Amino acid sequence: MSGIASVKQRSLLSRLFRTKNLDKILADNANQEHQLKKTLSAFDLIIFGVGAMIGAGIFALTGAAAVGSPDHLAAGPALTLSFVLTGIICSFCALCYSEFSAMAPISGSAYTYAFSTMGEFIAWIIGWALVLEYAVGNMAVAVSWTGSVKEFVAMAFGVHLPSWLVSNTIDTVSHEGLKNADMSIVMQAIPFTIPFTTEEKILLVQSAFNLPAFFIVLAVTCLLLVGVSESARTAAVMVFVKTFVVLLFILIGALFLFGGHMDVLQRNWFADGWNTFAPHGFNGIITGASTIFFAYIGFDAVSTAAEETKNPQRDIPIGIMGSLAICTLLYILVTAVITGIVPLNEINKEAAVVGAMKYMGYPWASWLVSIGAIAGLSSVLLVLQMGGTRIFYAIARDGLLPAALAKIHPKFQTPHICTIMVGFFVAIGGGLLPINLLAEMCNIGTLGAFMIVCIGVAILRFTDPKRHRPFRAPLGLTFPVLGALGCVYVMTGLPLFTWVVTAAWFLVGMVIYFGYGFWNSKMNLEENDEMSVDLIS
Ligand code: ALA
Repeated sequence: MSGIASVKQRSLLSRLFRTKNLDKILADNANQEHQLKKTLSAFDLIIFGVGAMIGAGIFALTGAAAVGSPDHLAAGPALTLSFVLTGIICSFCALCYSEFSAMAPISGSAYTYAFSTMGEFIAWIIGWALVLEYAVGNMAVAVSWTGSVKEFVAMAFGVHLPSWLVSNTIDTVSHEGLKNADMSIVMQAIPFTIPFTTEEKILLVQSAFNLPAFFIVLAVTCLLLVGVSESARTAAVMVFVKTFVVLLFILIGALFLFGGHMDVLQRNWFADGWNTFAPHGFNGIITGASTIFFAYIGFDAVSTAAEETKNPQRDIPIGIMGSLAICTLLYILVTAVITGIVPLNEINKEAAVVGAMKYMGYPWASWLVSIGAIAGLSSVLLVLQMGGTRIFYAIARDGLLPAALAKIHPKFQTPHICTIMVGFFVAIGGGLLPINLLAEMCNIGTLGAFMIVCIGVAILRFTDPKRHRPFRAPLGLTFPVLGALGCVYVMTGLPLFTWVVTAAWFLVGMVIYFGYGFWNSKMNLEENDEMSVDLIS
């Protein structure tokens, strides 16, 4: 009798929203046969965070966000405020990440936090969103990496790499671009055409594949296979190079402005008062924020390294908040220098930092910036790629993806199958897909994950108030609530087209969950075992 009752009780809804107790998560993790190697310190984690953050966002997307495009209103010099606004929202989320990751130092990050508070189904959705953040985001970074290499090769050797070698197979072009395009190519594009109001985009299929993007991702994958401390050392060198370059840029800009050119800044920012500073007012600032949000992605990757950290409860919050604070300050200064020195209509939309160096009369320094950008993007690739594999690993460990993905290499102690699979997925995407779409999809996924982490922290304050919190976001629920609302607000600035493609992505996620994860979930199997015992008794 009791058996029949328990079958009835386990309705579809209760199975979808079954949560995994945080203590059980920690115990399961401690009892694992193979553990990830614990090698990282607080300093390594700050390097990791900065390594993941400074990259395509600041080097490649700043110009487009300031100047605007058919899809995006120009933020103008007020892009500096977009960085301030996004930095503030991210700091709310960082406080929540710190609270959660200190309580549950598990490599699944937001996925694990959601599992313990909102249940398996929401956890899967967040896991799927995190794949957007880490894997799809990294595809965008790989495309941007090619752009920097192309520019460097042209500057250093005068060689212009052929476009079939460095362009993506499917590219997003405007009507202007199409006017000049070969009609036969346009015909091939028709299956990919999505009619979209006035600023519709057409995905143009070219006979091209972004080979450098493909190979750099595979190289990073090999490094990650060998070991996490080797990857951390490599990232440290690259972080040093890019931070040096960014600081040099700020210094040269400051010397230029304070060396008798403050009138230039006054003109570029305030020639016509607020209209010059923010040509599209607050709407422009929020659109800018939703684009450059990409620059902030990465501080949360610190939490995915929790299982590989020596003292995670103390060091993860330091790594998250430290890297966010450093990057926020650098971003605001870099944007102020670019928009203060270069008139808006002369800002280089693809490479604003390099363009500003040339504008100030330092073409030699644009070389350095180019090298800094290549180093920066390489470190982002490394850290995000590691984050992506750790998420897949955590999901597979719970049975929602095939168990093979959770295997750990006996010698290297890294999740090798997962690393190789994510590596090929990202490499192929980086060769095929357009950067803007990839970056914006990544933004939606990340904002969604941030929002859920904030909500999760709030829920756990009610459901488990007595739990020991090695780090606690201050002022009660203020930061979780503001963080979640801020994420929703930034998401509203992203174009409809991106939302539609992202919806398709989540549809695929649903098919995988209901086709595989739901049935093979470890919790499901454990419940079935309990039920069989129940029925027998
Ligand atoms: N924040 C990283 C970048 O801007 C993803 O490249």
